Amino acid sequence: MINGKPYLDTDGNPIHAHGGWMLDYGGYTYWYGEDRRDNHYVSCYRSSDMKNWEFRGHILSTDSPVSHTSGRFDLRLSWQKEPLPEANENLIVPGGTGKVNIERPKVLYNELTKKFVLWAHYENGQNYLDARACIATSDTPDGEFTYHGSFNPFGEMSRDCTVHTDSAGDTYFISASRDNADLHIYRLTEDFLNVDEWVKSVYCHEFREAPALFEKDGKTYMISSYCTGWAPNQGKWCAADSVTGRWGLLHDFGDSTTFRSQSAFIRKQGDKFWYIGDRWSGQEYFSSSYVALEIQFDGDGNPYIEYTDEPELFN
Ligand code: DGJ
Repeated sequence: MINGKPYLDTDGNPIHAHGGWMLDYGGYTYWYGEDRRDNHYVSCYRSSDMKNWEFRGHILSTDSPVSHTSGRFDLRLSWQKEPLPEANENLIVPGGTGKVNIERPKVLYNELTKKFVLWAHYENGQNYLDARACIATSDTPDGEFTYHGSFNPFGEMSRDCTVHTDSAGDTYFISASRDNADLHIYRLTEDFLNVDEWVKSVYCHEFREAPALFEKDGKTYMISSYCTGWAPNQGKWCAADSVTGRWGLLHDFGDSTTFRSQSAFIRKQGDKFWYIGDRWSGQEYFSSSYVALEIQFDGDGNPYIEYTDEPELFN
C-alpha cells in the first residue's frame, strides 16, 4: 500500500475506513472507519497480517436496529423534514430525508459485558451544531451494531473524538468541545455505555482536533491536529504522566501539513508505534486516502515522523 493512494481490500476495492480505528480480537485486527457511501456509516475490514484486508461489512447504516440503554439518548440515525402546508406557500421548506454524519468511529471490547462498543461523533447531517457523541454495540466485532443514540456528555459539545484504555485499565473518551476550542477527557462507565466522569478539560482555546493517544515507557502521548476543516495543518504532540495528569506543552509533529494528513489513530505493532492519518479529499471525500508513518523517538523520548511512501506496516 502506498501512502496517499487508495489502499485496496482483498476484493480490489478501495478501503473506506476513514477517521478510523483498529482493534485486535481473536487473532485478527479489525479496521473500522467512516464510509459515507449509500446508506452506510461505518465499515469494517479485518486482517491477520496487516497486509490483506478482507471487507467484513457495513456495521452501522441508516437501517441499523436501534434501542435505548439506560441512558435515554436521541435514537435518530437519519433526518426527515416535513414540508410546510400549502397555505404557507411563501414559507415552504422543502421536505426530504437525509443521512446524519457519523465520524471517527472507535470500537472497544468490553470484558465485563462481552460486548463490542462503538463510540463516534454524531452530527445531524445538515450542520455541525449538534456536536454529540454516539454509541452502538454488537456481540461480535463485525456484526450489525445496534445503535443506542447520541448525546452531549454532561451537556457539553463533543466533536472529533477518540478513546484510550490506559495501563491501569481505565478507558477514556476524549473529544473536542466548546466549538472545538478545548479538549475534554471523560472516563467511561464500566460497561462503556456512558461517560462516568468528566475528568478534565485540556488545551483551552488551542482548537485541537483529531486526538489520538498512546502510552509508552510510562508516558501517555497525544497526537492532534489544529482545526482547519478538511485542509491539513501542523500536527502537534504532547505528553503527560497519565491521561488524568498534567499535560505538557504542544510540540510540532511532522511538517506544516503533517505530510498532508490528519491524525486518525495510533497503531502499536510489536515494539513499533505507527501514526495513521487520513489524507482527506474534502472536495471528493470518497477518494480520501491514508498516510501511515512509523513514530520514532529521539534520545529524550520526543516522538517524530519522517515521510516515506511505502509504510512497512502495510507492505
Ligand atoms: C475536521 C475533522 O477532523 C473531521 O473529522 C471532519 O469533522 C472535518 N473537520 C469536517 O470539516
